[in-house]
Amino acid sequence: MGPGTFAGGERLVQRVERILKDRWYQEYLLRNATREAKRRFCRHNFQHMLDVARVAYILMLEAGDLQVFVRQYSLSGREAAREIVYAAGLLHDIGRWEEYDHQSDHAAASARLAKELMSRTGFTPLEIEIVTRAIGEHRRRDAHETLLGRYLHAADRLSRPCLSCPARADCHWFADSRRQAYFTY
Ligand SMILES: [Fe+2]
Ligand SMILES: [Fe+2]
Repeated sequence: MGPGTFAGGERLVQRVERILKDRWYQEYLLRNATREAKRRFCRHNFQHMLDVARVAYILMLEAGDLQVFVRQYSLSGREAAREIVYAAGLLHDIGRWEEYDHQSDHAAASARLAKELMSRTGFTPLEIEIVTRAIGEHRRRDAHETLLGRYLHAADRLSRPCLSCPARADCHWFADSRRQAYFTY
């Protein structure tokens, strides 16, 4: 599927497509790929980013929380909400390579890189704030987490194909997500 074929409105396609075509977005994906060339466990590649975006959006729709999200931030509507959810998914692990290089927290690194990237691709300060905060929250649950942070965290786990993974016996994720792995999104 090419970047221009996301179902939905023009605005979604335009801004999400700008992220996908951004030179530094491509560069960060490449950095993740080079650091993970021999990784046995799940990789932090474009397919993972897209899977998380899609699953987060589906979960919000199914729970009826997309409208809650729209009202919470006075967004213009469902299209704007979807665009923000997709931006969060597509960017949430963009700084994973920094964790390999500097042992830094990749959620914080990804949030920082996402802020720069979203500023270049036409998102508003409010939208950037919503996305970067959710990315910063995606690794663990927190009493003060935002709605999008909660869904990003859930999608990160539910999108992993644990049941077909040859490395699952050694993976701490599989033990955590065993009961959830039967869902398919
Ligand atoms: Fe992550
Ligand atoms: Fe992830």
